[in-house]
Order: sequence, then structure tokens, then C-alpha cells
Amino acid sequence: MLVQPYNLMAHGFLLFLLFSYIISTNIHACKQTERSSLLSFASTLSSPSLNWTSLDCCHWKGITCDQDGWVTRLLLPSEGFKGGISPSSLRNLTHLTHLNLSHNSLYDSLETQFFLFFNRLEILDLSYNRLFGELPLSPPSSSIRTIDLSSNHFFGAIPSSFFQQASNLTSFNVSNNTFTGHVPSSICLHYSPSLRLLDFSSNVFSGNLTPGLGKCSQLQVFRAGHNNLSGLFPEDIYNATKLEEIALPLNSLHGAISDKIANLTNLAILDLSFNHFGGKLPLNLGKLSKLKFVTFDFNNLEGALPPSLMNCTNLVELHFRKQQLGRRYHHA
Ligand SMILES: *[C@@H]1O[C@H](CO)[C@@H](O)[C@H](O)[C@H]1NC(C)=O
Ligand SMILES: *[C@@H]1O[C@H](CO)[C@@H](O)[C@H](O)[C@H]1NC(C)=O
Ligand SMILES: *[C@@H]1O[C@H](CO)[C@@H](O)[C@H](O)[C@H]1NC(C)=O
Ligand SMILES: *[C@@H]1O[C@H](CO)[C@@H](O)[C@H](O)[C@H]1NC(C)=O
Ligand SMILES: *[C@@H]1O[C@H](CO)[C@@H](O)[C@H](O)[C@H]1NC(C)=O
Ligand SMILES: *[C@@H]1O[C@H](CO)[C@@H](O)[C@H](O)[C@H]1NC(C)=O
Ligand SMILES: *[C@@H]1O[C@H](CO)[C@@H](O)[C@H](O)[C@H]1NC(C)=O
Ligand SMILES: *[C@@H]1O[C@H](CO)[C@@H](O)[C@H](O)[C@H]1NC(C)=O
Ligand SMILES: *[C@@H]1O[C@H](CO)[C@@H](O)[C@H](O)[C@H]1NC(C)=O
Ligand SMILES: *[C@@H]1O[C@H](CO)[C@@H](O)[C@H](O)[C@H]1NC(C)=O
Repeated sequence: MLVQPYNLMAHGFLLFLLFSYIISTNIHACKQTERSSLLSFASTLSSPSLNWTSLDCCHWKGITCDQDGWVTRLLLPSEGFKGGISPSSLRNLTHLTHLNLSHNSLYDSLETQFFLFFNRLEILDLSYNRLFGELPLSPPSSSIRTIDLSSNHFFGAIPSSFFQQASNLTSFNVSNNTFTGHVPSSICLHYSPSLRLLDFSSNVFSGNLTPGLGKCSQLQVFRAGHNNLSGLFPEDIYNATKLEEIALPLNSLHGAISDKIANLTNLAILDLSFNHFGGKLPLNLGKLSKLKFVTFDFNNLEGALPPSLMNCTNLVELHFRKQQLGRRYHHA
């Protein structure tokens, strides 16, 4: 008889232990709907390396959940995935903030409503896959910070409306695809306080670079080489004074380089090779003391290199070969 209260207490203690176990494991335990979404995503891919078997998907490789058990990160680059990602089993993972599936062999196109499903997405890296088709019609939400769709087979134009909500976008890389139409320089006209990297290189963009880039006050890297661009070097780019790299090789741009280029005091890389630039190089070019790599190869420039370049002590490479109109110089 004396034993019973003790027994009760012991039972109570065990129950307490059981409850706290359930509670503590439930805090980060994944929702079963999220688990089945992940499994259905995995089932469309072939990958030997995924071991997604345990009950709590929040502890699976590549998965991060928030406190309520929603999957927020899916980071599985270089997993050897082959397969389609559409019609998307991922679309039910509505709390995703980070999606990195770069360096796999995913094929398919992105659903037109892709960014509507993932309206909390901050980081999207689908680079180095075999994705094709046009960009989704629905634009990314204001939470987006990084978009890397480079080295795929995407095509079509990039509508300027694509950026209409992207006020926190810092990096946009679509290089090495087959996009056509204009380079959407208007990207800077919407909201652009945070844009730092823009890479449009190795596509089939054509027409001139429309004004707008100068409004990207934080822009550090602008690449649009290896396209079909024509027209003049955009004047307002001289206003983007944070620029460290301008790379526009292998296009059909023409006109003279203005002495306003001296405003770009952070410039280290300037690649204007294989274009139709003409006139004389601005005498004040040497004011750009951070210049490291400069090439004007294969243009129509006249005259000699400005002597002020002698002042650029950081200069490692300077190329000025094969100017079709002017005299020939060879520096390397
Ligand atoms: C996604 O959610 C819908 C509606 O809740 C459901 O019908 C569908 O089966 C889910 N898909 C996956 C792959 O879980
Ligand atoms: C898969 O994961 C389970 C539990 O997480 C583990 O017991 C098992 O050894 C793993 N298998 C492989 C092949 O890694
Ligand atoms: C995606 O993952 C790869 C490999 O870890 C990494 O190099 C890359 O920076 C990641 N992408 C982003 C946008 O963080
Ligand atoms: C934009 O970024 C800032 C700073 O990182 C953050 O406070 C803000 O919530 C972000 N805005 C949106 C709409 O995500
Ligand atoms: C854009 O992506 C390509 C790979 O597809 C990479 O080589 C390049 O450096 C990236 N651009 C920037 C500005 O980081
Ligand atoms: C361009 O993309 C293809 C895949 O689409 C890739 O194999 C190749 O390495 C990429 N080139 C560069 C320079 O990144
Ligand atoms: C290149 O641009 C020119 C002039 O803008 C245009 O006529 C031509 O069709 C473009 N070529 C390709 C392959 O887009
Ligand atoms: C460059 O900036 C100056 C001063 O902010 C402004 O007056 C001028 O209109 C800008 N030029 C272009 C081409 O946007
Ligand atoms: C460049 O700098 C000069 C003075 O250094 C200034 O008058 C001009 O507005 C600046 N901006 C442009 C786009 O030339
Ligand atoms: C090089 O810089 C010095 C000091 O700033 C200046 O006096 C000189 O004129 C510059 N040389 C050239 C060729 O611009």
C-alpha cells in the first residue's frame, strides 16, 4: 500500500519524460505533407546518393526546416540528379527561401507560375543544368536576392516587368543561355538599390544597351559580352561609379569612349575587345588607378594609347591589338 504513491510518482515522471520527448522532437520535425512533397520530388530524379528514408525529413541531407517544420532550404548542388522538375512536386514547398540545385542534369522548363509558388524565395541557383524554355511569366517576389540561371538552355526575351517587384535583388546571372531581345537595362529603373552583379554574357541579346544602368548605383560587375549588341556605349553607365568590371567583348558596339569614364574610379577590369569602337581613347584614362586588366583588341580605335596609363601601377594586362583604322600597336 505504501508503494502506490511512489509508483504513481514514477509513472508521472515517465509520462513527463515521454511528453517532453514528443514535444522536443516535434519542434523541428517535418510536416508530413512536406515530407511527401520531398519524396515525390526525389522520385522524379535518379540519384544514387540520396538517403531520404527516416521519418523526420528536417534531418535529411540538404534539407533545413524552420521551427514549425516547414522546409525552408533545399540545397543539393552537384548530386548527379537527372530528370525533370516539372510538373513540379516542389511547388508544395511554399516556405522555401533557398533553392540550390546547381550542377545537376535537370531538364524541363520552369512553370509559368514558378515564382508564385515560391514567394518567399531569396536565393535561387539552378545554374549548370539542362533547363530550357522561357522565363516564368510571374515575376519573382520582393524577397528575391539572387537569381542564377546561368549555363542552361533557356531562351526567349527577358521582359522588364520581370524585375518589377525585385527591390532586394543583388545578383542576376543568366549567362551562357540563348536569351534574345534587349538586355533589360531597365532592370535599374524599377528598384535597384541593391544590384551588384549583372551577367548577360554568352547569349543572343541584340539591339542597343538602353539607358538605365546608371541608376544602378551599387553595380559592381556588368557583363554582356558575346552577344549581338549594337549601338553606342551607354552614356549613363558612367554614373554607376561603383563599377569594378565592365565586360562587353564580342559585340558590335561602336562610338567613342567618353572621358567621363574617368568617373568610374573603382574600375579594375575593362574588356571592350572585338567591337567597333572608334575615335581616340580618352587622355584621362590613366586616372583609373585601380585598372588591372584592360583590352581594346580588335576595334577601330585611332591614335596611341594615352600616356596617363603609365600611372596605372596596378595594371597587369593591357591589350590594344589590331585596330583596323589606326596604326597597329601590340602590348601584352
Ligand atoms: C500538393 O498539394 C496538393 C493540394 O494540397 C495535393 O493535392 C498534392 O497531392 C500535393 N502534391 C505533392 C507532391 O505532395
Ligand atoms: C540511411 O540513413 C539511415 C538513417 O538515417 C541510416 O541508418 C543508414 O545507414 C543510411 N544508409 C546509407 C546507405 O547511408
Ligand atoms: C550553390 O551551391 C554551390 C555549391 O556548393 C555554391 O558554389 C554556390 O555558391 C551556391 N549558390 C548560391 C547562390 O549560393
Ligand atoms: C530587403 O532586405 C532588407 C535587408 O536585408 C530586409 O530588411 C527587408 O525585409 C527585405 N525586403 C523584402 C521585401 O524582403
Ligand atoms: C555567372 O555564371 C557563370 C557560370 O555559368 C560564371 O562563370 C560567371 O562568373 C557568373 N558571373 C558572375 C558575375 O559571377
Ligand atoms: C555553358 O553551359 C554548358 C551547359 O549548358 C556547360 O557545359 C558549359 O561548361 C558552360 N560554359 C561556361 C563557360 O560556363
Ligand atoms: C543581330 O542583330 C542584328 C541587328 O540588330 C539583327 O538584324 C540580327 O537578326 C541579329 N542576329 C541574331 C542572330 O539575333
Ligand atoms: C548622372 O548623374 C548626374 C548627377 O546625379 C545626373 O545629373 C545626370 O543626369 C546623370 N546622367 C545620366 C546620363 O543619367
Ligand atoms: C563625372 O564627373 C564630373 C566631374 O568630375 C561630373 O561633372 C559629372 O557629372 C560626372 N558624371 C558623369 C556621368 O559624367
Ligand atoms: C601621373 O600622376 C602624376 C601625379 O598624380 C601626375 O602629376 C602626372 O601628370 C600623371 N601622368 C600622366 C601621364 O598623366
